[in-house]
Amino acid sequence: MKEELMLIIPNKEYMNQAKELIKETIELDNDNPDKWAGFSRLNEFENYDEWLQKIADELHQEKLEPGRVTASTYFTIRKNDNRIVGIINIRHELNDYLLNYAGHIGYSIRPTERRKGYGKKQLLLGLEKCLDLNIKDILVTCRKNNIGSAKTIESCNGKLENIIYNPHDEDNHKRYWIKL
Ligand SMILES: CC(C)(COP(=O)(O)OP(=O)(O)OC[C@H]1O[C@@H](n2cnc3c(N)ncnc32)[C@H](O)[C@@H]1OP(=O)(O)O)[C@@H](O)C(=O)NCCC(=O)NCCS
Repeated sequence: MKEELMLIIPNKEYMNQAKELIKETIELDNDNPDKWAGFSRLNEFENYDEWLQKIADELHQEKLEPGRVTASTYFTIRKNDNRIVGIINIRHELNDYLLNYAGHIGYSIRPTERRKGYGKKQLLLGLEKCLDLNIKDILVTCRKNNIGSAKTIESCNGKLENIIYNPHDEDNHKRYWIKL
């Protein structure tokens, strides 16, 4: 199937593509406050290997600062050409901040690959990972005015619980639950 996607744990093979992903995001999506959703701060690392180490550490509670929760980060790869089309970060549990505002999952589809159905496919693949982790009640949130993300969540059967104001970014956020 031409448009099949898969989630892979980032590795050295994807370094150049990861840099290209950051470049494209800055060039085409710089004004979007959500542009780094799911990146696990990849954009802040000059050294890709150090970022690989950081996301590997994030799998282990003992390597995290108090209050942080373990998380998994994946590149979403299109199988037919091995291109990174997106990135997704799954938090394994919710602390107060995540419960109120950010939820279990953050994600992006790269600007040149949007509106092709990949956002929905990527989230569905992320939900499979949640199931593997035995997370069955999944909180996914988005800004109230992020129509693309809201539709993506709704297309994966997200049920809106409420809309709350986040004082950290001074914006309103929709909180959806997806039950698996
Ligand atoms: C949100 C995002 C992941 C959606 O990815 P995508 O690949 O374009 O989404 P899809 O093509 O799978 O579309 C899913 C649904 O959203 C709709 N949609 C997507 N972008 C849209 C937009 N900008 N405006 C209106 N509807 C939109 C699609 O029409 C589709 O609706 P449908 O289920 O009714 O057919 C992508 O826009 C993105 O990466 N944005 C920047 C980062 C971000 O906002 N992340 C989420 C933070 S909460």
